[in-house]
Amino acid sequence: MSILVTGGAGYIGTHTLVELLNGGYEVVVMDNFSNSSPKAIKAVEELTGKSVKCYEADINSREDLENKIRENPDIKECINFASLKAVGESVEKPWEYYHNNIAGTLTLLYVMRKN
Ligand SMILES: NC(=O)c1ccc[n+]([C@@H]2O[C@H](COP(=O)([O-])OP(=O)(O)OC[C@H]3O[C@@H](n4cnc5c(N)ncnc54)[C@H](O)[C@@H]3O)[C@@H](O)[C@H]2O)c1
Repeated sequence: MSILVTGGAGYIGTHTLVELLNGGYEVVVMDNFSNSSPKAIKAVEELTGKSVKCYEADINSREDLENKIRENPDIKECINFASLKAVGESVEKPWEYYHNNIAGTLTLLYVMRKN
């Protein structure tokens, strides 16, 4: 069984990955790297001594999610950290925030339920 960690290359995501891997869980990461870098996943691998399957994927893309989830039928659970979270910017760009965070979560739930 694997746990899908969306937004896994971010601040909370990487800390969660370390805990999951050290706890013996298998993980699959999906992140669009809009606010992070694949280097963060390398750092997690170095810290834990375990390899992490990581995809560049956007939770707003049904196609991205379906393809990657079908490639990994062992995914049974998901922790979603894929989000925009800067307070000031969220007031300036509310539509972008609602779209990324709420529509994205609904798309992710749709694909998880379907698969
Ligand atoms: N940082 C904190 O102290 C804190 C505290 C409580 C809750 N949270 C919540 O945890 C979540 C993550 O916060 P964070 O601080 O790790 O932020 P972060 O920006 O470091 O991480 C978010 C990750 O999501 C990715 N991402 C954004 N939109 C995406 C999309 N559409 N598809 C795929 N990936 C996408 C980004 O590239 C980034 O890697 C947020 O919901 C935040 O509100 C954070």
